[in-house]
Amino acid sequence: MKKLVLAITVLLVIALMIGVGVFKLGLVPVNADVPPSGLETRFIPIAVHASVANHAEEQPNPMVPTDENLIAGGEVYTVMCARCHGVPGRGPSVLGASFYPPAPQFTVQPSGYSEGELFWIVKHGIRNTGMPAWGRLLSDQDIWHVVAVLRRLNSLPSAVENSRSKLH
Ligand code: HEC
Repeated sequence: MKKLVLAITVLLVIALMIGVGVFKLGLVPVNADVPPSGLETRFIPIAVHASVANHAEEQPNPMVPTDENLIAGGEVYTVMCARCHGVPGRGPSVLGASFYPPAPQFTVQPSGYSEGELFWIVKHGIRNTGMPAWGRLLSDQDIWHVVAVLRRLNSLPSAVENSRSKLH
């Protein structure tokens, strides 16, 4: 029995050393212009979704989607987000596609996260990706405004569209 425990321990230590060696020798690719291994593409999104669900508060957006609130959110989106997440009426963002993982194009496909989760993501960002934590630059109110817009990018009232297009 003792021999078995010893053999397993030795095997585990060797496996750990090989793992550290692979990292230390620079054998793990870190470039963002090729998709990573199947393991990474399959498991990292699961971890991100589970972490967001675990940390975000499930709360409705306190901002009523009036023209005024959507205009405020449209301004934030145009100035801070559109360069990566896409401009309504234009093609997908080349900058957004240059990240791995790429920035989702909300004009093509709205996010599947709830508004409470979207608020948390925008405030805290997603580590090791191109998605910054906006909590130091935007107030909670600004973030709720932009979250309201994320959901409606392709169906904004014309008053909001007009004010947003003036910012370009
Ligand atoms: C510099 C580029 C960049 C900017 C600017 C940027 N983002 Fe992102 N964002 C990303 C990337 C890259 C991801 C993908 C992260 C991932 O898949 O884990 C992302 C992911 C997200 C997500 C998660 C959506 C989902 O369904 O997976 C939300 C929400 C989001 N961004 C909102 C915003 C908002 C709102 C702004 C502006 C205040 C913004 N982002 C600005 C690059 C950016």
